Amino acid sequence: MTTPELLNVADYGRAANKVLQRDVFDYYEGGALDEVTLKENTASWQRVNLYYRVMAGVRAMDVGTTVLRRPISMPVMVAPTAFHKLACPEGEVAAARAAARAHTAFCLSSLSTTAMEEVFTCASSPKWFQLYIYKDRGLTRELVARAEAAGAEAIVLTVDAPGWGNRERDARNGFRLPPGLTVANVAPVGKGDFPQVEGSGLAAYVRTYLESALSFDDLDWLCGTTELPVIVKGVCRGDDARRSADRGAAAVVVSNHGGRQLDTAPATCEALPHVVDRVAGACEVYVDGGIRRGSDVLKAVAMGARAVLIGRPILWGLVLAGEEGASAVLEILRRELEEAMLLCGFSTLGEIDGSVLAP
Ligand code: FNR
Ligand code: LAC
Repeated sequence: MTTPELLNVADYGRAANKVLQRDVFDYYEGGALDEVTLKENTASWQRVNLYYRVMAGVRAMDVGTTVLRRPISMPVMVAPTAFHKLACPEGEVAAARAAARAHTAFCLSSLSTTAMEEVFTCASSPKWFQLYIYKDRGLTRELVARAEAAGAEAIVLTVDAPGWGNRERDARNGFRLPPGLTVANVAPVGKGDFPQVEGSGLAAYVRTYLESALSFDDLDWLCGTTELPVIVKGVCRGDDARRSADRGAAAVVVSNHGGRQLDTAPATCEALPHVVDRVAGACEVYVDGGIRRGSDVLKAVAMGARAVLIGRPILWGLVLAGEEGASAVLEILRRELEEAMLLCGFSTLGEIDGSVLAP
């Protein structure tokens, strides 16, 4: 899958843009309002300089690490993104298989177009389930119980979406799921079908079914409901991250939902150091948003992230070649991370420290 046209992750984005239907591409690609955060997510990683070390005598390279004590072959994991069957017919199963091939973590969205039982059979460890808290707590508890039974090893609670970011591209396009696709995890209880909701597609779905008054009590409730570790996804502040850890979160994800929620929220690259500083080892810290190069991964690790997640790049891979495409994207990032580490004089992730950012 590495051709002169598809050398890097951005190439995958451009190529996916050419083949996708306009409304789907806009849904995948877009952010909230003026898309300031969306653009800054990528730009801020690019602005960070790497003060490489010379004559470090790097011989062998090992980019393996652990998350929540589970081994992964590189610190690049698959973020939860909705509706993979819009990208390719195998949908979430293709993405889960690509993550398994790369020996890395896969996180399934609550809003998947394939039921979790089917997807988790195809994913290898670590496999995580991303949870939106429904107003109906019985349904929410049932989703958690099903995830546990299906083999999920952590629940990723998304906390940056008490309401829906206003994605104007989707409003203009009247984006909705095409006939035949549903929110498969909740379709059996009649909450999986967008056309059943009055108003405009996804935004109306969220308004109708998901909890808008999300609070730290919900985190307590979730931690009390499941034995699985809970990962809080969507923080940008040190105090919220620390509070999450103190109330039972095993990890936090510094994330602004890929610029899709609050526009002008800080780029995750800017927010990450504050979170790492305040959490001070009380839980693991991951980051996502705009990571498009292996050197971005190195920078995140240097700032104290244990691992990163990628969202859109996996979707682009799925669009172009299903499992093969998503797999190719992951391998591009692995190769680029190794190249960046060699040029910076590191042979393991443990050696990467803040001095590469500010000597
Ligand atoms: C998302 N994201 C997301 N997050 C989440 O917790 N649950 C979800 O269902 C979704 N769905 C979703 C759909 C699409 C199309 C996108 C682009 C994103 C956010 C996702 O997990 C992640 O935070 C960002 O995608 C990371 O940014 P990049 O890598 O896309 O820049
Ligand atoms: C999104 C979802 C579903 O960002 O979280 O579109």
